[in-house]
Amino acid sequence: MYNSFHLSDYLGRCRETIDTALVDLFDQVDQNRRIVAAMRYAVMGNGKRLRPILCFAAAEAVNGSSGDAILPAIALELIHTYSLIHDDLPAMDNDSLRRGNPTCHIAFDEATAILAGDALLTLAFEIITDPAFSAPAPEMRLGAVRIIAQAAGYQGMVEGQMRDILAEGRRLSIDALKSSHALKTGALIRAAVETGATLAGGSPHQVKQLRQYADDIGLAFQVTDDILNVEGDPDRMGKAVGTDADRQKNTYPALLGLDASKTLANTLVSHALSSLDIFDHSADPLRAIATYIIERKR
Ligand code: IPE
Ligand code: IPE
Ligand code: MG
Ligand code: MG
Repeated sequence: MYNSFHLSDYLGRCRETIDTALVDLFDQVDQNRRIVAAMRYAVMGNGKRLRPILCFAAAEAVNGSSGDAILPAIALELIHTYSLIHDDLPAMDNDSLRRGNPTCHIAFDEATAILAGDALLTLAFEIITDPAFSAPAPEMRLGAVRIIAQAAGYQGMVEGQMRDILAEGRRLSIDALKSSHALKTGALIRAAVETGATLAGGSPHQVKQLRQYADDIGLAFQVTDDILNVEGDPDRMGKAVGTDADRQKNTYPALLGLDASKTLANTLVSHALSSLDIFDHSADPLRAIATYIIERKR
């Protein structure tokens, strides 16, 4: 099992790989264009890069390498960043701090932030289908495009965001909250694990186990996000706290209380770990990431 020292090493290496790829991507385009500046600003903030890291770790779990998963890894980080830009808009969560910096609509303006989100979403698909990369094979990429499009769209993240907004000020049942979280946060996390594993040649059985793992850590991730919104340190997190209560959001801490939410997060991680039983040490990064997701402070 990875101990915490090894994990921070692993996370650091993955972040460097993804950050280098993102810098290279934006270095190729004209920085003086306002839309490019806004896209770059949002992407290059101090993000944890969790979705790309999961993509790499899932590829490694099936004995592939991070190189097999670089295209969906970049695509998912671009889509995740777009979702954050739009999530922070005044019409949605109306937040002014993200990744330690003023949100995109504060640093630029609302129209630019909306367009930067749109442009990051479409850029993700441009990257994953880029013929300049000789691998993976086109049919493999097509499968990944479909997984990512479904996860990001009206049956996935966008639907989850819709439910989150519709539920403001109304009390959801625990089941309804769970499916809202599974969509708004879980869908992209599952797509990261699934595309990483499939592009690295994972078998259907391996991918099925990894999907179960992803669903549990996806929910644990959002439960932890909501716990940190109550008791986290805003300086460390680079975003405001206390905002869910202000907006009467449905969250596990609001519905169940902090202690029960922490217990749930622990149970989800234990369950996620049991889904990895069929894997050997190749899945140790995924094992360590599961624990990191609920122990993180940002
Ligand atoms: C925050 O995601 C939004 C949620 C889906 C809960 P992250 O906590 O992964 O944000 P970054 O990428 O590290 O900024
Ligand atoms: C964000 O959820 C989910 C997406 C952006 C899809 P939250 O609104 O709970 O996340 P934070 O707390 O603003 O990062
Ligand atoms: Mg939100
Ligand atoms: Mg938000």
